[in-house]
Amino acid sequence: MKVLIVGGGGREHALAWKCAAAARVSEVLVAPGNAGTAREPKVRNVEVAAEDLAALVDLARNERIDLTIIGPEAPLVTGVVDAFSAQGLKCFGPSQAAAQLEGSKAFAKEFLRRHGIPTAQSRTFTSASFDAAWVSRQRAPLVVKASGLASGKGVVIASSAAEALGAAQAMFAGQFGAAGREVVIEEFLPGEEASFIVMADGTHVLPLATSQDHKRLRDGDQGPNTGGMGAYSPAPVVTPALHARIMREVIEPAIRGLSADGMPYTGFLYAGLMIAPDGTPNVLEFNCRLGDPETQPMLMRLASDLTVLCEAALAGQLDTVSAQWDRRAALGVVIAAEGYPEAVRTGDVITGLERAAALPGKIFHAGTRLAGSEVLTSGGRVLCAVGLGEGVAAAQRNAYALASAVHWRGMQFRHDIGHRALSRELPPRD
Ligand SMILES: Nc1ncnc2c1ncn2[C@@H]1O[C@H](COP(=O)(O)OP(=O)(O)O)[C@@H](O)[C@H]1O
Ligand SMILES: [Mg+2]
Repeated sequence: MKVLIVGGGGREHALAWKCAAAARVSEVLVAPGNAGTAREPKVRNVEVAAEDLAALVDLARNERIDLTIIGPEAPLVTGVVDAFSAQGLKCFGPSQAAAQLEGSKAFAKEFLRRHGIPTAQSRTFTSASFDAAWVSRQRAPLVVKASGLASGKGVVIASSAAEALGAAQAMFAGQFGAAGREVVIEEFLPGEEASFIVMADGTHVLPLATSQDHKRLRDGDQGPNTGGMGAYSPAPVVTPALHARIMREVIEPAIRGLSADGMPYTGFLYAGLMIAPDGTPNVLEFNCRLGDPETQPMLMRLASDLTVLCEAALAGQLDTVSAQWDRRAALGVVIAAEGYPEAVRTGDVITGLERAAALPGKIFHAGTRLAGSEVLTSGGRVLCAVGLGEGVAAAQRNAYALASAVHWRGMQFRHDIGHRALSRELPPRD
């Protein structure tokens, strides 16, 4: 069987590596991929952009691809799954209609309210309907969100109503382009964040292993927000009781609701949650794809054949399969380029990859490209070093041994990935 992975980041390297490991898979194509996928056995990069829907359909037809898995949100939101389906091609991901759950935060809030799923109180505005007096009456802090896709940069936590007003006006004025034409303003929710990722087939749900990421650039969860500086799986914050509650109060009503609304959901569904002090799993947002970097440690633990799970979902038979997980913990440390997340330096030579390859664990590539026999940096998040171990501390040691084996000018990574899980793993100190 031939598989196509769409995208070129760390998540897609992990997807390609995982699919290539299946005995029944003869070849994995990645569009466009990176230096990591280029060097992976049984994997071949193809120079087709993840956003070029017509070229992706042509590629899948010409190469006789049996299964396509979409990594990033952009092609899902513009309808890649509909384009594949129209040609009778199997493509794992939600339809354009269902992907609005990520593509429009305004749509998602309406959906959550309609189906009684816990979420922050909010209102949605356009510049024409904006009600500055209402905003001024709200208690700070307030959260201001550009409704559309903004690469994780479209959310402002405003510590005063005045700051919220300014943030909304900047969004209306085009700070995030069309993504800011609608703006969601919501109450600030206290609590601990967790992500919860499932596979769905329109009706049935298969929860994946839990994971948690670190969004801030610097140690101690300080510094600017990023796409994610590291992640681990499992996430001890999601206890078995909380797991059951998230399924019952968030995931099951969401899948039922999408079906009832005429847009049955097939694909990965990622709920970004804020667990309130009383345990309520409030939905901050939905993503219609796997998370990056959560995917890298999560797939390191997946013992089942991912292509079997995706095919079962596409056949509406997710209830007939189960996923087996390595009971060890996996932890991934993102290594970023100098200047990330603002002005990123690229084109630096990465050394030590061979040394790292001899160590336990796995380095997934993100912003890398091949230049002859050298691997160069080509993006902000460059590598994700994933270690496995009995417990988070051991996984963390292995991940940092990998990270220390590689080098390039200006590389940066956090030294405390997994600290929340570690503090839960330690015996109570009294
Ligand atoms: N209502 C809220 N209360 C508190 N924090 C929030 C709230 N909404 C979002 N956040 C914070 O902002 C981050 C980004 O918001 P999110 O809705 O996930 O948008 P995106 O991932 O598209 O940037 C969240 O991970 C969370 O830390
Ligand atoms: Mg988010």
